[in-house]
Amino acid sequence: MNIVCIGSGYVGSVTGAAFATLGHRTTVIDIDRKKVELINSGKSPIYEPGLDELISSYIGNTLFAVDHYEVVREADVVFIGVGTPSKPDGTADLKYIKLAAQGIGKHLNAERFTVIVNKSTVPVGTADLVSSIIEENSGLIPNEHFAVVSNPEFLREGYALEDVFFPDRIVIGADNERARAMMSALYQGIVQRENYFEKSADFQFDYKLDNKKPDYFETDIKSAEMIKYASNAFLAVKISYINEIARLCEVLGADVTAVSKGMGLDSRIGNKFLQVSSGWSGSCFPKDTAELLATSRKYGCELGVIEAAVQSNLQMHNFVADKIKRRLKSLNGKTIGILGLTFKPNTDDARNTQASVIIREFAEVGARIKVHDPQGMTMFRALNPELDIAYCDDPLEVAEQVDGLVLLTHWQEYADLDWKEMFNKVRTPYLLDTRNFLDHSYLREIGFDAEGLGVGSSKQESRADKTVAV
Ligand code: UDX
Repeated sequence: MNIVCIGSGYVGSVTGAAFATLGHRTTVIDIDRKKVELINSGKSPIYEPGLDELISSYIGNTLFAVDHYEVVREADVVFIGVGTPSKPDGTADLKYIKLAAQGIGKHLNAERFTVIVNKSTVPVGTADLVSSIIEENSGLIPNEHFAVVSNPEFLREGYALEDVFFPDRIVIGADNERARAMMSALYQGIVQRENYFEKSADFQFDYKLDNKKPDYFETDIKSAEMIKYASNAFLAVKISYINEIARLCEVLGADVTAVSKGMGLDSRIGNKFLQVSSGWSGSCFPKDTAELLATSRKYGCELGVIEAAVQSNLQMHNFVADKIKRRLKSLNGKTIGILGLTFKPNTDDARNTQASVIIREFAEVGARIKVHDPQGMTMFRALNPELDIAYCDDPLEVAEQVDGLVLLTHWQEYADLDWKEMFNKVRTPYLLDTRNFLDHSYLREIGFDAEGLGVGSSKQESRADKTVAV
């Protein structure tokens, strides 16, 4: 098929590279010439493990990038993957979606039937909006010349290639039979895993080889649009929940790593998204929960559980900052070292991260801040220009003469650090691991005053870590 992906961000570039890998002639459109040039030179416009390799393998072969909409004329399926940032009131700003719809409308071909796919996360009802903009700009008739469908993306940053090639489910919201048939044909490769294993070298990973095929779920458009928001909000609630339990564990002396493990053994609960952190953040959960809450308020249908999860998440950021303030007493003039600025590992995405909240709390009470992140420092600095902090290229530089270290993001690189050398650099060996990720007993053995969240400070390595055969 002839595929077009509008937007070369976290959604469009991954989706485009995936369909090109599966043999479809795929063109990514971006209005930013620099990104287009980058893709044409075989490089990814975003940091995502494995994406550079895919783009360089397929560019000029089945993958193309341009900065204009002419290619829409030849397209069978056009994915819209542009950003939908939050407006100040929490609702999603649809200006880029509208521009994309106008661009499509102006170039749609009356001689063929084209499916337009909303892949961006968009409020319920946006497919209708896109359809009317295309109709206005093209003069063509919906359902005769084109149809708009919803196909929400569930890609996790850092694992986007795994998720695009081996998804749990593909959700298609369509009210048009022809569009539904074309989407089903397009996704056959991913659903049936044809030639997957011969091609696995190109995917740059060799995991998930259990070959469990994804569920292909067809529904109406509005339900598909809602599935995306409801899923992300549910995951946010789940994390807020375990983080609250962690806070209670800390007071009562229980170990939240054991608690989440024990809970997760119940198949109704599952073990995913029960890892403690300083709170969820990033480019999706805050934006999606804000949009859902704003819309629900407008329609007089308040969502108390999600509202509480958002509040609880802010409390979790504060809880971490308070824990350090209590532990190190006055932070005035003290130096705190932060490891990790991105909202999770394997991404350069530093939008809306808990680091920006926690660092501000330290700065307010007079602490000096040093930071390191393997990929996120450039974006973090650009988004937080007013923060007076020292950016270090090496974690060892962060450790130099600090009064406390805080690990916010569980990059593997931090587990692999030479912690003895880190210990030699610090002024005070206090370390808070907000992800319960490091080997605390080892860290204590070499002299660190190490603690995690919700695990108490004396027993760290969970004795309940074993499921015993009886
Ligand atoms: C999310 C959704 O998972 C994905 O399906 C959707 O399409 C886009 O939004 P993403 O934002 O990339 O993906 O990150 P995700 O892996 O879901 O993590 C979100 C945040 O929750 C991160 O800050 C992460 O560190 C945190 N988290 C996750 C926890 O604190 N604990 C957990 O157990 C899991």
